[in-house]
Amino acid sequence: MAKKALITGVTGQDGAYLAELLLAKGYEVYGARRRLSTDNTGRLRAHLGPKFRSPRFRLLYGDLTDSSSVNGFIGSIRPDEIYNLAAQSHVAVSFEQPEFTADCDALGTLRILEAVRNLGLGRKTRIYQASTSELYGKVRAVPQNEGTPFHPRSPYGVSKLFAYWIAVNYRESYGLFASNGILFNHESPLRGETFVSRKATIGLSRISWGLDKCLYLGNLDSKRDWGHARDYVSAMHMMLLRDEPGDFVIATGKQYSVRRFIETAAAVAGLTLEWKGKGLAERGVVAGIAAPHPAAGLSRHELRVKKGDVVVRISPEYFRPSEVDTLLGDASRAARELGWRPKVAFKELVEEMMLADLYAARKAVYLKTGGFR
Ligand code: NAP
Ligand code: GDD
Repeated sequence: MAKKALITGVTGQDGAYLAELLLAKGYEVYGARRRLSTDNTGRLRAHLGPKFRSPRFRLLYGDLTDSSSVNGFIGSIRPDEIYNLAAQSHVAVSFEQPEFTADCDALGTLRILEAVRNLGLGRKTRIYQASTSELYGKVRAVPQNEGTPFHPRSPYGVSKLFAYWIAVNYRESYGLFASNGILFNHESPLRGETFVSRKATIGLSRISWGLDKCLYLGNLDSKRDWGHARDYVSAMHMMLLRDEPGDFVIATGKQYSVRRFIETAAAVAGLTLEWKGKGLAERGVVAGIAAPHPAAGLSRHELRVKKGDVVVRISPEYFRPSEVDTLLGDASRAARELGWRPKVAFKELVEEMMLADLYAARKAVYLKTGGFR
């Protein structure tokens, strides 16, 4: 009998990579998605390709803010593994929708744990909780590991803090197999379009092809430990294969600023940026133009950017009421006990994202003009 895995948040970035991984491992995969007025399965459909239609892959409706729905889908599937990835996952948005964020991210996790307990699945079902480096927030130690104290800095971080501890509590109180993955930022071409990495790769690609003029961003100096989502979902699965539940930091151990991410992405299109001005008046100016990456599908003469163009500006709307300035993870426990190590390095990650978005921009130009200029 194939093992049954339930993924909440299957329509998100990690959901797509995890569904792919578990299908490849022979699981029956059930994906819970919430009902929206527009289709939210596009990313997943494109990523899984023909596997989206596999009889081992089933989608069902389920919203984490609705306990009858959570009880219903867990009770009908009776999964061996639950990966709780569903969340309002945007830190900045959590300041504008704190109550929804808490309902989904904090209470949603509790609803899953309660459903497993009340349905008598405590001995059968293993639970992965999508915890986050945002728990460390105003960091108390560098690098952060499983013993570093938490100090979240947003309604998102605080909601995830509840989720972290309620998973630990149900493990200690009722013996549930509930493990927290404290994952540092992970990105990919499937990353949501309003997170800074993807916003930058889409923006710079469109600027390169002449579809947009400028990218507007907030704090360029915050630093993140950036890995690839494909690597990180494999750690989720490894955590549930252990004999005992536990909590693990998953990170690369390397840190880069948002500014460096932008420079690295621009270089894929052949652009060297120079930063001029300070504070809100700071801007990223094209200081040099070289041949784009050989796989970019963009030649130097097709680049619609010239030296001196301002391609990055700062806008106050993208600053947060409180910021997480620096995150750097120490994943040595995961290396030791799970055998997990990241495979994709920062430059490779940025290149993969940028090449995908350059192709998307190229296609948009083609559709707009009826051919390449
Ligand atoms: P994501 O792309 O934003 O995906 C979030 C998923 O949650 C989407 O499928 C979304 O559905 C779903 N969702 C939102 N509200 C829901 C609700 N009320 N009921 C049911 N589903 C709901 O996030 P991700 O990057 O894949 O991250 C996966 C998880 O890991 C999240 O919990 C996130 O907080 C956490 N995490 C992410 C990172 C990272 O760097 N990516 C790091 C640490 C932790 P729609 O498609 O309909 O919006
Ligand atoms: N989104 C966004 N948009 N962020 C910007 C912008 C912008 O225009 N300009 C600068 N930033 C800065 C943010 O202030 C933050 O310091 C950094 O870029 C990263 O922002 P995000 O990409 O939105 O990610 P995040 O680090 O806040 O949160 C992500 O990682 C967490 C793990 O550390 C999300 O995926 C969370 O769900 C996840 O838990």
